[in-house]
Amino acid sequence: MTVSQQVFLRDAMRRLNLTRDVFAVRIGVKRRALDTWLLPEGSQEFRTMPEVVSRFVTEIVENEGLLQKYAQSAQSGPLRDRIAFEGKHQLLSVDQFTRESVEELFRIADQMQPIARRQKVSRVLEGAVLGNLFFEASTRTRVSFGAAFCRLGGSVCDTTGFTFSSMAKGESIYDTSRVMSGYVDAMVIRHPEKGSVAEFARATNIPVVNGGDGPGEHPSQALLDLYTILTEFSRLGKLLDGAHIALVGDLKYGRTVHSLIKLLALYRGLKFTLISPRGLEMPEYLLEQTGKHGHTVNQTNSLEEGLAGADVIYATRVQKERFAAEELEGYTPDFQVNKAIIDKCCGPDVIVMHPLPRDSREGANDLSVDLNHDTRLAIFRQTDNGIPVRMAIFAVLLGVEGLVQHSLRDVTWSPPSHVGPDDSVFQDMD
Ligand code: NCD
Repeated sequence: MTVSQQVFLRDAMRRLNLTRDVFAVRIGVKRRALDTWLLPEGSQEFRTMPEVVSRFVTEIVENEGLLQKYAQSAQSGPLRDRIAFEGKHQLLSVDQFTRESVEELFRIADQMQPIARRQKVSRVLEGAVLGNLFFEASTRTRVSFGAAFCRLGGSVCDTTGFTFSSMAKGESIYDTSRVMSGYVDAMVIRHPEKGSVAEFARATNIPVVNGGDGPGEHPSQALLDLYTILTEFSRLGKLLDGAHIALVGDLKYGRTVHSLIKLLALYRGLKFTLISPRGLEMPEYLLEQTGKHGHTVNQTNSLEEGLAGADVIYATRVQKERFAAEELEGYTPDFQVNKAIIDKCCGPDVIVMHPLPRDSREGANDLSVDLNHDTRLAIFRQTDNGIPVRMAIFAVLLGVEGLVQHSLRDVTWSPPSHVGPDDSVFQDMD
């Protein structure tokens, strides 16, 4: 096996679209045994799966693959060609993905996990330079894109804000993009106007990734959100098809939810509950699009009503900086996602997500910190997943995904066993 046991088994379950319980029955083993094989290699409970089981799983997956190939028109060519935007290797919208291509990207993200978890290093992007152009506030998107590129062996040049860029001198998007193309090998761009990143992308032939275009899209965030949901569901023994997803908050201006609802719509039979304060509802075109895919969409202004029975709660910040005529200062207290309301409305295996940042100022009533020691809170597992997913995006757009596996070397330093002081509560949750 060239990949880790955990990656191998997760991939098999995803390809077969089976929960842990059903997968255990399918391969004829006890669920408990499967759980120990699925733990990260360093953990105490980890067990090596017998060789005969691994061969059996490979056989089932290969058979399934052959059946799928016959059933559908065979996918061909590299992933970057299949997700290309106007013929270029660029990532501007989640519309570029199908369920198959998104899951292919996640298999590559799984392969990146040992690097993201600081067990292995790789230099497949040695010599390549990333231009990180952020014309809007950012912490995690900018740094995680930069870190992802560096962890593949590349280097990063940054520019932040309009004030310190030539755009403050009136330079056009076309000129900026063309100039940068001569300096760097890929660009990540965040800009306050919807459609602006596509304009950057048209003015260059190098890979461009949309890091957020105003209230438009934020495709890499939605990809890491979906990856997180699938990983958490795999641990909980759930399938995404048929799940109940509650999107909460500023659904009008929140670009993360705009991309996420489209990406989730690639799955089957979802129930969406959209919970927003009056005036911040999800745009009509997204409601129509989601309905057309056969999903159920309910809208409500009541948090308590909307959260009942949810499998995923995805909370968002009020995007006050994008308000046109809206008056809202923040959420009212009855709109805050906190432990009390989750205990009241949801089961023990709900997962609570947020793209972050959460607004911690007084009166903002954004996602409460009283869930910080609650295993249902997935926000830091979500941010951690930003690294392998963004590494996968770069590897695919630059065409090096096939080189990663054989490039891995052991790390030379000793990272702490938990990167966060409160992370021990979440131990062995993989
Ligand atoms: C989000 C964004 O910038 O759209 N943040 C992020 O990238 N994780 C969400 C937000 O700003 O509220």
